[in-house]
Amino acid sequence: MAVIGLGLIGGSLARAARQSGLVGAVVAADRSDDELALGVELGVIDGHGSVAEVVAGADLVVVAVPVRATRDVLAAIQPHLSPEAVLTDVGSTKGSFVAAVHEIFGGWSPRIIPGHPIAGSEKNGVSAAREDLFSDHKVILTPPADAAPDALDRLTRLWQGCGATVLTMDVARHDEVLAATSHLPHLIAFSLVDTLAGEDQNMEIFRYAAGGFRDFTRIAASDPVMWHDIFLSNRDAVLRVIDHFNEDLAQLRQAIEDQDGAALLRVFSRARAARNHFSKMLSGQAYVTDMSQKPVRFRLQPGGSVNGDIRVPGDKSISHRSIMLGALADGITEVDGFLEGEDSLATLQAFRDMGVTIEGPDHGHVRIHGVGMNGLEAPRGPLYLGNSGTAMRLFTGLLAAQPFDSELTGDASLSRRPMDRVAEPLRAMGAVIDTAEGGRPPLKIRGGQKLAGIHYDMPVASAQVKSCLLLAGLYADGMTSVHEPAPTRDHTERMLEGFGYHVHRDAATSSVVGGGNLSAGHIDVPADISSAAFFLVAASIAGDSDLTLRHVGMNPTRTGVLNILKLMGADITVSNEREIGGEPVADLRVRSATLRGIDIPEDQVPLAIDEFPVLFIAAACAEGRTVLRGAEELRVKESDRIQVMADGLKAVGVATTVTPDGIIIDGGQTIVGGQVDSHGDHRIAMSFAVASLRASGEILVNDCANVATSFPGFEALARETGIRIDAEEGR
Ligand code: S3P
Repeated sequence: MAVIGLGLIGGSLARAARQSGLVGAVVAADRSDDELALGVELGVIDGHGSVAEVVAGADLVVVAVPVRATRDVLAAIQPHLSPEAVLTDVGSTKGSFVAAVHEIFGGWSPRIIPGHPIAGSEKNGVSAAREDLFSDHKVILTPPADAAPDALDRLTRLWQGCGATVLTMDVARHDEVLAATSHLPHLIAFSLVDTLAGEDQNMEIFRYAAGGFRDFTRIAASDPVMWHDIFLSNRDAVLRVIDHFNEDLAQLRQAIEDQDGAALLRVFSRARAARNHFSKMLSGQAYVTDMSQKPVRFRLQPGGSVNGDIRVPGDKSISHRSIMLGALADGITEVDGFLEGEDSLATLQAFRDMGVTIEGPDHGHVRIHGVGMNGLEAPRGPLYLGNSGTAMRLFTGLLAAQPFDSELTGDASLSRRPMDRVAEPLRAMGAVIDTAEGGRPPLKIRGGQKLAGIHYDMPVASAQVKSCLLLAGLYADGMTSVHEPAPTRDHTERMLEGFGYHVHRDAATSSVVGGGNLSAGHIDVPADISSAAFFLVAASIAGDSDLTLRHVGMNPTRTGVLNILKLMGADITVSNEREIGGEPVADLRVRSATLRGIDIPEDQVPLAIDEFPVLFIAAACAEGRTVLRGAEELRVKESDRIQVMADGLKAVGVATTVTPDGIIIDGGQTIVGGQVDSHGDHRIAMSFAVASLRASGEILVNDCANVATSFPGFEALARETGIRIDAEEGR
């Protein structure tokens, strides 16, 4: 490997490549003989020479000079480069490298692959080189369309061998992204320090400058030559982002001048949230774009009993809706008990991306500065809704009626879920929505459409579809009414009433007339019965158990799990029943019981739709046969919950019979333990944690990170009650 330019980056690559064992020898050329001598002395390189000498025998040539020097260096390299050699660079701007190659080589070669490691330091020179500089950092390669596969593969493996993650991008996109994420911050840091240094009192200012100033301006100590090169080379993209920043800064200035606290709060809280989700950001897009976390696996030791007095986190469905209606209301809505899970946080973030000021969440407290029915702003990029089907379906209804275009995206699981069920009736109302193949996300919604109310007979019992249409109906001409084939959760209807928007309810039909307003209020989110369900089953199946669950939501459209468990013989007592903010709540005490298998009444299916995974565990621990029918909807949840549960049960020693719309489980089989794949489905993961209570061997559940979508803190709470659970990083 020949490195041309033995500075921080070239030197670090030399060190890392040598350590990886992927290169035979590293030689370098540099205009400074001292740096080269130091490189040999420090063990960074094996040898050095002129550009001509080091390039002549190299398989890989890396240009690691300031970008403005690239052209001359390429001219020196070109006559000596072997036809098989791979040529790459490490510069921060790619358009300029490509232009220089065209100029010097008179065209392109498939063995030239531009690169850019997103790593560095304000230090420079070979003495600052570190072999771990690229470890856990990204390297962007911008290969041409006809890149030689072996060249790309070798270069990719080299960077991976240095510990980096390799991404590919096209040249223009790279330069835009870097202008925003790297070049602009450096410019601001240089400029700020220079401005303050020029103030009369500069010594005083610097003396009192606190940690914030130091942190913010660390990069102003970077190499001026390198950065002057970068700005001149990436001129157009940098100018665009500077103009954008200037506009936003001017708005902040104006807000301060006008004493407009709300505007400041909106920008600061949106920025704070974005900063907290930094690793999930993609520059220039709406803020949250990726929620994939580190892989988590649950390790469960068999046995145990379940005891204590607990409150599980807030209801997911109500948390989503509290943000949505609070954002559209006039005035400030305060929410308590908000679920700080990733699904409801995705909804919260999406509204921030549409210009709504939302303070919190802070220990379940959220303060939403409603913008009114017509106050949402166009998001800057696609709204990323993570794993949440509820968010995507409800948003579709809401966004179909907005004046601006929008795009909804989600994670791999959400991207497989059917969205036609909302897109089709919305189109009948006049909405313009494009889906990806098979009616799946991403959804592209055209704004500015006039919607008209319809009557819709839902083919499936779905609260998400019903809520989506009611939300669209708030904006439609005339009346929108939705008929459901079986009762589904009615949180939307209840909360709309709570915000002063009348919902006409007649047997199985809910209707709204468009054109009204929402008035802000206070929402107390009860504990989620779907999360409580894991503990209801846990304490039922484990001997010597006695557990109290506080403040559990008892909306009758959600209590199927209680009805089913009671039919199975569970010992659950309900006390302290009360109504808070339009939703019934109660405390539940559950004790060990001998469960028996049942034919699950089909009318309970929509009322327990999210609780079946853990009910299957109850069935496996019951005496006799449990039969579930009429539950094909389970196949299109976060995973195919019938098949994934059957596979998981089989993996721990329990045979079942899968049917198209349900499952047959014969209880009394021994749960011997084993490895379960949750398929990233939060409820599957938690269900097998519960199964461990009756297992005879260890259970390992893979792919559990998504438990955070609905039940942050599950592992700690489960352990506190007696489940022998440990979460570890890994697949
Ligand atoms: C939900 C409705 C249900 C449920 C989901 C939340 C809601 O989905 O499974 O977890 O908040 O409206 P469907 O309405 O599609 O059955």
